[in-house]
Amino acid sequence: MGLATINPTKTSAWKKLEKHVDSLKNQEMKTWFSQHPNRAKQFSIQWKEFYVDYSKNRLTEETLKLLLQLAREVKLEEAIHKLFSGEAINQTENRAVLHTALRKKNKPEEVQQALSKMEKLSSDIRTGEWRGFSGKKITDIVNIGIGGSDLGPRMTVEALQHYHDNTLKIHFLSNVDGDQSAEILKKIIPETTLVIVVSKSFRTVETMSNAKILQDWFLKATSKENLKKHFVAVTSNSVAAQQMGISYENILPMWDWVGGRFSIWSTVGLSLCLYIGFSNFNKFLEGARQMDEHFESTTFKENIPVILALLSVWYNNFFRCESQAILPYSHYLSLLVPYLQQAVMESNGKSTSRAGVPIPYQTGSIIWGATGTNAQHAFFQLLHQGTKLVPCDFIGFKKPLHNNTKSHDLLMANFMAQTEALLKGKTKAQVQQEVKDQSGDCQAFPLWAFKEFRGNKPSTTLLIDQLTPKTLGSLIALYEHKIFVEGLIWNIFSFDQWGVEYGKQLAATLFSRFAQNPTPEDMDGSTFNLVRHYKEE
Ligand code: F6P
Repeated sequence: MGLATINPTKTSAWKKLEKHVDSLKNQEMKTWFSQHPNRAKQFSIQWKEFYVDYSKNRLTEETLKLLLQLAREVKLEEAIHKLFSGEAINQTENRAVLHTALRKKNKPEEVQQALSKMEKLSSDIRTGEWRGFSGKKITDIVNIGIGGSDLGPRMTVEALQHYHDNTLKIHFLSNVDGDQSAEILKKIIPETTLVIVVSKSFRTVETMSNAKILQDWFLKATSKENLKKHFVAVTSNSVAAQQMGISYENILPMWDWVGGRFSIWSTVGLSLCLYIGFSNFNKFLEGARQMDEHFESTTFKENIPVILALLSVWYNNFFRCESQAILPYSHYLSLLVPYLQQAVMESNGKSTSRAGVPIPYQTGSIIWGATGTNAQHAFFQLLHQGTKLVPCDFIGFKKPLHNNTKSHDLLMANFMAQTEALLKGKTKAQVQQEVKDQSGDCQAFPLWAFKEFRGNKPSTTLLIDQLTPKTLGSLIALYEHKIFVEGLIWNIFSFDQWGVEYGKQLAATLFSRFAQNPTPEDMDGSTFNLVRHYKEE
């Protein structure tokens, strides 16, 4: 039962890859392109609206063969089957991992019922059928939640604003920092606001505290019985939601087999559904379903999430890269990076193997990045000329959502130019020639040394037809499956998050100590001094 426990470093593929990487370290990708005119075609995949070009990576046919062998040796096929069939592969919490069931064609009865409830609720609010306590339409939604109960709705609402077809405004309240709630409260009024409290556990301190702030604010304006026209909960803990005063019929269910960071496909997507409408929300689910099908049934060599995961392991464990950059060339995707930071790092930032022992190799990449072209003027310097090797995912769209072809061409020229520059670099001879052409003297000061680009930096390009609810669904599902494959290879449990619990525990203790007089014996010297300074008048 559960996923097989296989130490990847003991596989024959891993050992071969360790030798193989040495033979590649001094080879230039640009030479491979001139030697093999077919390279771009050989290392790219066309799937529906996605064209994935991974030819600008430090891999050869032999590398791919060995990586695919690694996938087989860690029993990837069997693991994919266990994922989709709902085995309890989240073993430390004894849970199945079934976010894919939320988007499949024949959904479980309970999911179907929840979706229907969500459809009715969102439609009533959008059409004005649902009225606030004074009889006015709802104009503002406040989504209270944190982590997966915030990042998914927030990122997708931002990403799909082009498809927003009404006047509802959505506000996201996540941080326990009172600044955030104070600013939101300046923008809304109780009679036209609907608050959605999103928390799988309904125990998360930040969310509970913010829900209380909103309730107090609301109850200053009207009576308790009007709460039912203005407070909705999304949770798997309906008892706690009712204790907060949220009426039973306003509670949308969630399930323990959906991880917070994979929950946008569930009722957690209510804000998105309100924003773009149920039919668009369904297209979003359909895009993810199609990616699930691709992942489940496509041979590994043509399987996008599998290939991207193998590349990630290749760089992480054999080139010792610490991080990966995600670079969407779409302003709409400006929150994709924070979203993926949670999805990737909360899932695969682990150092205990599935056998329960510390692991001696690297896992979980650090994810960072920002949208192009802004990012080019911020941190691309390090990508091009820094000492660190950072594999990059460039994500761009063929067709824009506006009519300004010129600006889109400009954006996409930059998109492609960056991957080209990372690949080719600029040689000493080229730079010397350039310096000579400009100043006529390339010897006086070795300017060429600063202008040289070594190149040979890896990037993968995801060129997608257009940003739509459907392609966004596919894109997110792609990364979800990539995470699964990485975690399987690293022999870790990707679907728990024990690492965030300890900080919560200590924060609760410190919070209670603020009211007392802490003594140096209570805590380490630094923390004790910080508390003392903080409490000093
Ligand atoms: O603390 C981390 C975490 O458990 C995330 O995994 C989750 O997305 C977030 O907190 C919010 O949890 P909940 O939905 O239960 O409030």
